[in-house]
Amino acid sequence: MTLSPAPADKFTFGLRTVGWTGADPFGVATRKALDPVEAVHRLSELGAYGITFHDNDLVPFDASASERELILKNFRAALAETGLKVPMVTTNLFSHPVFKDGGFTSNDRSVRRFALSKVLRNIDLAAELGAETFVMWGGREGSEYDGSKDLAAALDRMKEGVDTAAGYIKDKGYNLRIALEPKPNEPRGDIFLPTVGHGLAFIAQLEHGDIVGLNPETGHEQMAGLNFTHGIAQALWAGKLFHIDLNGQRGIKYDQDLVFGHGDLTSAFFTVDLLENGFPGGGPKYDGPRHFDYKPSRTDGYDGVWESAKANMAMYLLLKERALAFRADPEVQEALKTSGVFELGESTLAAGESTADLLADAAAFEDFDADKAAERSFAFVRLNQLAIEHLLGAH
Ligand code: GCO
Ligand code: MN
Ligand code: MN
Repeated sequence: MTLSPAPADKFTFGLRTVGWTGADPFGVATRKALDPVEAVHRLSELGAYGITFHDNDLVPFDASASERELILKNFRAALAETGLKVPMVTTNLFSHPVFKDGGFTSNDRSVRRFALSKVLRNIDLAAELGAETFVMWGGREGSEYDGSKDLAAALDRMKEGVDTAAGYIKDKGYNLRIALEPKPNEPRGDIFLPTVGHGLAFIAQLEHGDIVGLNPETGHEQMAGLNFTHGIAQALWAGKLFHIDLNGQRGIKYDQDLVFGHGDLTSAFFTVDLLENGFPGGGPKYDGPRHFDYKPSRTDGYDGVWESAKANMAMYLLLKERALAFRADPEVQEALKTSGVFELGESTLAAGESTADLLADAAAFEDFDADKAAERSFAFVRLNQLAIEHLLGAH
């Protein structure tokens, strides 16, 4: 097992991750700006597969048409030189003050029209660069005060925005799918579509929901106190895990965006176990990019930026090695069996069995010995201990 990442591992990074200069609500930048062309070269040297960006990570909000062309020309040249891909593009609808009350859901209609227009133009760029996923993270779509929004209207406008963008993608014949990124709060007090579950329910209401899925982020689910692996599992099960943002978070607090695995390590192990091994009984698997959406700590200089980029990939590869060993261990297979993990894959009713058949089955009810069945030990602690021992490299 080598810890050298290769493009085949499909590791991708946002330009805004390695390019984060450390400015936060309490202090100014601690690092100088990073040239996007340098980011492309450095990530490629480190073995990454791709780079992703918000329109304004690359092209400043107020760039003229000729400035835009020059920036894109240099960026394309760096991509061509290195072979780095752009699998995902997204739109910044949160930095400029015009978006202070949101983009798609601003109470001001002229702002909503501007936001939608910005998104459609960016979809053209995404398609031109060969991206397959268009992420929508509505960081400013939300409120601080419940009375400041007509919540039903806000959901209508969110639906209108996403459906319009999806319809545009279809009209243009682009090979793109939209991935909504849930987050519970920050920068808004409460953000609309706060979790994977809310996202899935929203997608079911869309006209063009067939090309809309999710981009869950580790830390965002954990900020809501939720289990990230369960979240991506449900998205996978629903055929909606279109993209993934991996990072680290330590409990319910501000969005830490730590290196993947530097937050809840056990959870990261089971995330990689699911991504690499799939569900124990088979089922849908994720084969898209492994996208790291983290922030190099502002305490560190550029040495730390590139160390942390490497650390994300190393953590993933280490966890992948542990997860493969875990599932391949005969003792683990035995423990999974003892715990009934494979039994859950069997349907509760037999093929063709009706509710009348079930109700007539005395073995299922009248003759069922609940006390006896209650005696079964599922031995989950033993199974988990084996997982942790594998995680720690003890096997
Ligand atoms: C955040 C978000 C962003 C999004 C990005 C994609 O909390 O800041 O995770 O990093 O992933 O804006 O649109
Ligand atoms: Mn985040
Ligand atoms: Mn993210």
